Amino acid sequence: MTASAHVSAGDLPLAIVTGAARSLGHDISRWLLQHGWRVAMTDADGDGVKAAAAAFASEGLPTQAWQLDVSDAHAVPVVFDAIQKAMGLPEALVNNAGIYPDHVLLDMRVEDWDRVIGINLRGTFLCTQAFGRQRRDAGVHGGAIVNFASAAAFSARPGVAHYSASKAAIVMFTKSCAQELGPLGIRVNAVAPGLIEVREGQVTPEYRDAYLTMIPRGRTGRAPDISGVVGFLLSPEADFVNAECIAVDGGFLAGRSLVRAGTL
Ligand SMILES: NC(=O)c1ccc[n+]([C@@H]2O[C@H](COP(=O)([O-])OP(=O)(O)OC[C@H]3O[C@@H](n4cnc5c(N)ncnc54)[C@H](O)[C@@H]3O)[C@@H](O)[C@H]2O)c1
Repeated sequence: MTASAHVSAGDLPLAIVTGAARSLGHDISRWLLQHGWRVAMTDADGDGVKAAAAAFASEGLPTQAWQLDVSDAHAVPVVFDAIQKAMGLPEALVNNAGIYPDHVLLDMRVEDWDRVIGINLRGTFLCTQAFGRQRRDAGVHGGAIVNFASAAAFSARPGVAHYSASKAAIVMFTKSCAQELGPLGIRVNAVAPGLIEVREGQVTPEYRDAYLTMIPRGRTGRAPDISGVVGFLLSPEADFVNAECIAVDGGFLAGRSLVRAGTL
């Protein structure tokens, strides 16, 4: 576990973001930091998250970096405890860390299945439980969690049976947590991103073209499309939004095709 690049920022609320070294978690951290939050940026990639937090801190943004593998049942409560000691009690948790490798079902090894379920689903459970326990033990009321589902929780495609199963489970986990954590005043919601292009070469041009025929918005997503929605869900403006999963997919889940049937 490492802590770095702390910039004092008084009483700003603290959010923990998992998988914050790059891509969506990185952009969400930036959004929160620019909108009045302090952020504990965590990631399994310790060096990556340290560098990312140091870059934000050099802009005067209040963040610290923590190495954390969310699937590690021993490490999660230890790191959450260390974050609380160093930065104070977190008010928000963004369970962003997740992986989406491609394995066709008949070639999938049990290790492939366990790794995807372990990081995406077990990791979300472990971090949610650690966060909930911290809030309960502190005797405070309030807080918010945003989990990461996916359009793949609702729409199947070949090669990601483990991923789709993990994300569908997160939708229901979100609802269960909203019920159980309601008495603590903690709201729990999820986002279901569609195709969000977070890095070069993430998808082939053929895949993008095929996907675009299914997105009414006419484009694929970008990281800020997600960050603003996550920020909203953590904000007081979303105080009555609870147990919800919001698709951020340009309309992809509305249907399978934009082709008009004509005379049917
Ligand atoms: N990008 C998309 O199109 C898309 C679509 C739907 C859902 N999502 C979801 O959004 C989330 C972020 O996706 P992304 O595209 O930014 O992914 P990414 O692979 O670009 O980044 C994921 C980050 O999580 C970290 N990470 C991986 N395993 C970890 C672990 N065990 N513990 C802690 N950190 C770990 C990685 O180091 C990395 O920094 C994931 O949950 C993903 O399933 C993404």
